[in-house]
Amino acid sequence: MAVERTFSILKPDATARNITGAINAIIEKAGLRIVAQKRIRMSRAQAEKFYEIHKARPFYGELVDFMTSGPVVVQVLEGENAVAKYRDVMGATDPAKAADGTIRKVHAKSVGENSVHGSDSSDNAKIEIAQFFTDKDIVG
Ligand code: CMP
Repeated sequence: MAVERTFSILKPDATARNITGAINAIIEKAGLRIVAQKRIRMSRAQAEKFYEIHKARPFYGELVDFMTSGPVVVQVLEGENAVAKYRDVMGATDPAKAADGTIRKVHAKSVGENSVHGSDSSDNAKIEIAQFFTDKDIVG
């Protein structure tokens, strides 16, 4: 598997608890390189567009409210097999089901306030990265 990129968000529950550095340490220890990173306030329009795929889900409104409730850190991660690797490092969406040592097992509060987002495929990673970064922002 070649070097690829994935998109990551450190969510408002992580910025609120000042644990973005602790999460980045787990990411880097796993061999993923943070090649772009910025702390932003997601607008409602950005969050609605980003999570459009979940629009029909009962938790969509709650999800958009949460993602706009405080600062987030958006990131591009690079490495061998980065999409699958980051999903392993994050652990299951529901922290109660996440494996030991994963970011969500260690840090997440609930299925909604689950500290991190990571792309689910390489194609979606490209789409998600383009929503927040230009090529110039990414320094590999
Ligand atoms: P994420 O990887 O950002 O993608 C979609 C998000 O929806 C997911 O992480 C969860 O934070 C959120 N989510 C999934 N299921 C639920 C749920 N039952 N209630 C609230 N939020 C949820």
